[in-house]
Amino acid sequence: MRETPAPWKHGVVLVCNNERPPGAPKPSCGRAAGTGLKSWLKDAAREGGGPAAECRVLNSTCLDLCPADGVAVAILPGDEVLVADPVADRQALLARVQGHMEEVARQEGGGGGGGLRGALDRLRRR
Ligand code: FES
Repeated sequence: MRETPAPWKHGVVLVCNNERPPGAPKPSCGRAAGTGLKSWLKDAAREGGGPAAECRVLNSTCLDLCPADGVAVAILPGDEVLVADPVADRQALLARVQGHMEEVARQEGGGGGGGLRGALDRLRRR
């Protein structure tokens, strides 16, 4: 094992695109909905500039939320987890990601007090 510099900064956004087969007992986020939301968010975050432009937006397997009414999204670092409508909530999700990454970047730069843990606590209280 070896350490290597990450090709992203500030954090990672995981967008579930797990799709269960028809008739499965649990709902799932869905391949098309999750992949579409991830692609839109990645492009919008880059176009928006700022710290969110440097984070990584990825599709993930099941995040163990399995909503029937949207797509599960986790914003890291921290434990912020959202269920988003893959179309109607796009702008609100982008704003959350931008705010999260700005706070993390501020803490990485030494501002705001409390370090990264303080930043995560403030994000939770929003
Ligand atoms: S299927 Fe998306 S969180 Fe479980």
